[in-house]
Amino acid sequence: MIRSPALANLNGDLMPLTEVKISALDRGFLFGDAVYEVLRVYQGQPWLADQHFQRLARSLEAVRIRGVDVERLRRRANETIAVGSFREATIYIQITRGAAPRKHPFPEAATPLEFLYVQEFVDPYEAARRDGAAVITHPDQRWDRCDIKSTNLLSNVLAMQTAVEAGGIEALLYLPDGTLTEGTHTSFFGVLDGELLTAPNSHAILPGITRGLVLRLSARAGVPVREQMLRREDLSKVSELFLTGTTTEVLPVVSVDGRPVADGRPGSVTRRLQDAYRAAVREFLA
Ligand code: PDD
Repeated sequence: MIRSPALANLNGDLMPLTEVKISALDRGFLFGDAVYEVLRVYQGQPWLADQHFQRLARSLEAVRIRGVDVERLRRRANETIAVGSFREATIYIQITRGAAPRKHPFPEAATPLEFLYVQEFVDPYEAARRDGAAVITHPDQRWDRCDIKSTNLLSNVLAMQTAVEAGGIEALLYLPDGTLTEGTHTSFFGVLDGELLTAPNSHAILPGITRGLVLRLSARAGVPVREQMLRREDLSKVSELFLTGTTTEVLPVVSVDGRPVADGRPGSVTRRLQDAYRAAVREFLA
């Protein structure tokens, strides 16, 4: 398969991703002083772009990175897709507080770094979306502002590595009181007593864009849905479980910590929402 090389845009300049150079004093590198977004591009069109750019603006405001023109970033992303003739792709955007001598407080004079790249997307989840996947549970060891999409992902990385080493596709994170928040890079939903449940938006989770879409699609499909946290002990009682995310879309979970979810096969609510998701993408592209 011939893959088009990833194309980057650094502060407005287009270049191959492999040629991007960023200062070693950049605060994104030194402190994780940065926020990011990931978007999916279907047939050359960025999917749910309004929502992603609004969330980026919100993350920037939350960490007080000021002076970034989000509409301009959006134009750069579109230009990068067009120049690279990308069809099925992802857009990664990262804004850092910029480069300055290493001191913890905000630097007085630093210009935010505006970096994005577009990369062809070869879907790694096709089989898992069809057959279902295994996950593990793992303590949620993150900070208290998981609603900010910051690049401080060490705790997500460590939990995800534990999942991979256990043969899983994701780790569902739980707080000391046993409530489940979200995955390391996905949101999740469970069907309990015929009702679809997912954690309400709060500081404990990222307000997932796909999560928001799936809530709307559920309401439209007449699936009873409630924003309420599931608990770890509910995982032995749920009849269905699925992940949502920008690249995962809607992905059935059929085992947790080595135990099957219900009969160990993707359930009917999950299938309906997978169909509704595909239909929404088709509608968007039409
Ligand atoms: N992850 N929760 C977390 C912690 C995430 O990092 C993500 C996204 C999600 C799903 O959000 P959305 O539906 O907006 O993609 C939930 C991105 C894709 C990533 O880090 O690669």
